[in-house]
Amino acid sequence: MRIGIEYILKTLYDKKTRLLRSAGFFVDICSMTHRQQLFYNYLAQTSDFPLALDIERAEGVYLYGTQGEQYIDFISGIGVSNVGHRHPKVIAAIQAQLDKYLHLMVYGEYIETPQVKLAEALVQTLPHPSPPCDGPTLLGGERTPFQQGRGQGVGFNVYFTNSGTEAVEGAMKLAKRYTGRKEFVSCFNAYHGATQGALSLAGAEFFKRNFRPLLPGVKHITHGSLEDLDKIGCRTAAVVIEVIGGEAGVRVPDVAYHQALRQRCTDVGALLIYDEIQTGFGRTGTFWAFEQYGVLPDILLTAKGMGGGMPIGAFMAPQHIMSVFKNNPILGHITTFGGHPVSCAASLATLEIVQQLLAEGKSQDVPSHFLSFRQQEVSAPSALAGTLNLDPNKRELAIPTNPIQAKSDLIRSLLIHPKIKEIRGRGLMMAVEFESFEVLKPIIDRAISRGVITDWFLFCDNSMRIAPPLTITDEQIHTACQIILEAIEG
Ligand SMILES: Cc1ncc(COP(=O)(O)O)c(C=O)c1O
Repeated sequence: MRIGIEYILKTLYDKKTRLLRSAGFFVDICSMTHRQQLFYNYLAQTSDFPLALDIERAEGVYLYGTQGEQYIDFISGIGVSNVGHRHPKVIAAIQAQLDKYLHLMVYGEYIETPQVKLAEALVQTLPHPSPPCDGPTLLGGERTPFQQGRGQGVGFNVYFTNSGTEAVEGAMKLAKRYTGRKEFVSCFNAYHGATQGALSLAGAEFFKRNFRPLLPGVKHITHGSLEDLDKIGCRTAAVVIEVIGGEAGVRVPDVAYHQALRQRCTDVGALLIYDEIQTGFGRTGTFWAFEQYGVLPDILLTAKGMGGGMPIGAFMAPQHIMSVFKNNPILGHITTFGGHPVSCAASLATLEIVQQLLAEGKSQDVPSHFLSFRQQEVSAPSALAGTLNLDPNKRELAIPTNPIQAKSDLIRSLLIHPKIKEIRGRGLMMAVEFESFEVLKPIIDRAISRGVITDWFLFCDNSMRIAPPLTITDEQIHTACQIILEAIEG
């Protein structure tokens, strides 16, 4: 299996490189502008074919080039600009914080208002942990997190980071320290970040081979495969998984999968870590994607869309788990810049904007368990620890009715063309599948040249990434889809 994936990725890379070369993507230094020369001469490059769009400013869903070009950002800078570029409330929050203070002290020592307010708001997006019940226990006889009761001091704590990959690293350390175990399970075709722990989780040997040694003891499972859940065992510290597989090309599993995953983790005492770095902050039509599955993780990760364009991330866990960082060793996890006050202020404004957007649909016909999610306290020990009272046989996702899902539906209704094989996704996290990369690549190029930015996925190169700001208007969606349809035609 590993050799298969490795081979496929190598072939794809070579194929892409050839295609990009033939499309004249590699740069002719002589014909460059001064800024392009600076870009290529001084900026570390991540590939031989960066997009190299020269952007002067951004506003809402638009990016503006130095030559007056206007682009609709139909990917939100890869899932970051969920509330659009320079949202006025985000800018106001940043400006207000700039007038107060920037960095004061390393993380966790001083009381900084933007941090504590954001932590409170984030915790309030989460349901309460469930009450105690007789169930499987973790090593050392401790109960799994959501079997701990309220009133026992169990609430969520937020640990702020600067990025997604740092949130992954912190969560991995936390899981090792809390469970006393070393093994991790993650998915083939998943991406969790570029630092060495997060990279160890990557399923693709292609990206890891030349950076070994990485962390030992990482097993891989196929996202959505019930059979593979057996690989999660009593040596597993944690399963790190996206609720919806992003870089695999937006793979949406059914409810039964996540419920079985939760059950398996509970049974063997492994922590369930949901990486919502791409899916969180309203991207999939609910604040967190896991809300649509009625399953709660033990540790939750966020970043990307969280900052409204500012760099910030976080991992969140019940207090009794997070508190292990305080002892043995003291300062078990530290950071200088994690939770920068300006980023926290921007993030709190972003959170409020996203919540407002989501709230706009609540008067419509929404499944009752979804509507009541945040108010619901799991009152009886359910069959699955950490699971809301969803019918375990229910295979359908709880699809919210709100402006975000309505925009998703609008895109689906507009992007109809014989060359489009399938549209996958949830909310405004979508993948439009074509026959092959060779078909898709020229379409993406033409769309960009006509003013709509899309992309493909790290592990799915025949599908177009669509993830516009959640604030995009219907009119802007019509324009973008029209341009994509014209780009498909040639
Ligand atoms: C699901 C997921 N996890 C983690 C990361 C890493 O985040 P960052 O690039 O902020 O380190 C990404 C980035 O694309 C991601 O999509």
